[in-house]
Amino acid sequence: MDNFQYIDSQLHCELVAVRDIVEKTGTPTYIYSQTTLLTHFDRIAGAFAPLNPLICYSIKSCGNLAILRALQARGSGFDVVSGGELFRALKAEADGKMIVFAGVGKTDQEINEALDARIGWFNIESEEEFWNLDRLAGSQKLTAQGALRVNPDVSSVGTHQKTLTGKKETKFGVDIDRAEAFYIQASAAKHARLSALHLHIGSPIKSTQPYVDAITKALALIDRLAARNIHIDTLDIGGGFAAFYEGNEAPSAADYAAAIIPLLKDRKLRIILEPGRSISCNAGILVTRVQYSKQGGSKKFTIVDAAMNDLIRPTLYESYHFIWPVDVSGCSAPDNRQSTLRTAGDEKVDIVGPVCESGDYLAKDRYLPTTKRGDLLAVFSAGAYGFAMSSQYNARPRAAEVLVDGKTWRIIRRRETYDDLIAPEL
Ligand code: LLP
Repeated sequence: MDNFQYIDSQLHCELVAVRDIVEKTGTPTYIYSQTTLLTHFDRIAGAFAPLNPLICYSIKSCGNLAILRALQARGSGFDVVSGGELFRALKAEADGKMIVFAGVGKTDQEINEALDARIGWFNIESEEEFWNLDRLAGSQKLTAQGALRVNPDVSSVGTHQKTLTGKKETKFGVDIDRAEAFYIQASAAKHARLSALHLHIGSPIKSTQPYVDAITKALALIDRLAARNIHIDTLDIGGGFAAFYEGNEAPSAADYAAAIIPLLKDRKLRIILEPGRSISCNAGILVTRVQYSKQGGSKKFTIVDAAMNDLIRPTLYESYHFIWPVDVSGCSAPDNRQSTLRTAGDEKVDIVGPVCESGDYLAKDRYLPTTKRGDLLAVFSAGAYGFAMSSQYNARPRAAEVLVDGKTWRIIRRRETYDDLIAPEL
């Protein structure tokens, strides 16, 4: 699952003790394992090898340049959703042809930047956007490739309402029953080619069936288009593969591949995948220090120095992140990361941050070994949508980020300072 393990009662990331890192960096700090990151990338690449896909890592899940550079060197392309993410991809020396650009509201400036970078595909989310791309490409005397994002209207059990995208009446893509007419109209465009189809049905999708349903619908559409002499050469099946928060809840890359490959292996389609979480989630932890403990009515609160501004997932999606002390010399090392884990002497606490909102928590009613002021806690499976969704709310400088590779580690983003908080203000 990952390369975070207890050795001699100390949590290690690969071969480095987490305690030794935070002694230098302070807390809160995100720590990533390069081995875990690349192993998860390799698993997807290996499982889908029979389709020879272009893997476009989704930058939004964890976009630090060091992470992007490591993945780029491994052969990854990138899924971007803004001019800022495109900027990051290019700074990581991505090949423009290996970039796909999604998003319902691309501005003219962002489209022009992507045209300048000669990106591979614009994932088109509406008729108006397509014709705008045609116009902008024309004014630069370029031809742009588009992939129509089709909303296949499939259900996916287990995905939070806020991250479900493949159902009708979400803002994403074009309804599948309108797609055929869209492709026919688009064939008249002079500067934008629409010969690809894009799907992204949500995140995380904890079973393989929604992919099978969506791809089956997409292939039927591709066949109907072929009968009308419109040829689709590329199918981008998006991201959404699940990661391990409790340890056993997600299909493996091999499971997704086993369900998906049979549908596509005899098709002459270029396949694109856009995994984010399944690569970065298990590669990162957030380390925080206990500040105080207190009683509030019948509840016990463990107050730590990380807050909702550092990791917003628990309060935004009621997400579960396993949390455990970094030093287990006074308690036991966990033998699993499930929400049902109980060990001798643990107590039920809410783990909360210092932000002025009752929604500021990392865990509620969680059984945890007794902790005291100064103890370090690790919040696991925090690599995806962790730092990436952090903010400076309450004027809290953002956390540091560290990348570990075997026995070595380095700071890949320094902790923000108070001056960073006000630097852009005039
Ligand atoms: N492609 C597109 C077009 C997407 O919108 C996304 C994620 C991905 C790929 C990557 O999905 P992944 O493989 O990471 O599941 N903040 C939420 C997740 C939002 C996902 C948004 N789109 C969370 O923390 O759970």
